[in-house]
Amino acid sequence: MRPLFLSLLVLALASPARGQAPDGKALFEANCRKCHGAAGQPSPAMKKMIPELPTWDAAFFAKRTDAEIITVLTNGKGKNMKPYKDVLKPDEMAALAKYIRTLQP
Ligand code: HEC
Repeated sequence: MRPLFLSLLVLALASPARGQAPDGKALFEANCRKCHGAAGQPSPAMKKMIPELPTWDAAFFAKRTDAEIITVLTNGKGKNMKPYKDVLKPDEMAALAKYIRTLQP
């Protein structure tokens, strides 16, 4: 049992993460979900704590290009949307900008 477990672990660690496009969904779950909600809609409790949290719908995304979203991710906005330039790489921000558009109802 143990050697099998170890070799699986080694395989998992060695599997190539390089060259793959960043996973927007995984990045969203890890960094954004707690405020913006699982489906991109903040929970009522979260909305009460941070009233300026946007609702992401078609009208919201129609007014913003991916480049504008990436600018907000880079520099932040207001007091609760923090800048992510030291947390996320540019290709990860691009993947997020694409992914969050798929969350609109
Ligand atoms: C601590 C809570 C919090 C987290 C975590 C957070 N956000 Fe935000 N986000 C906000 C708030 C609040 C706003 C509204 C800012 C405003 O308009 O003043 C916002 C606004 C936005 C906007 C709209 C910007 C615009 O053009 O109006 C986008 C897009 C966004 N966030 C994406 C993300 C992504 C992607 C992540 C994860 C990398 C993330 N946010 C993480 C709180 C958060």
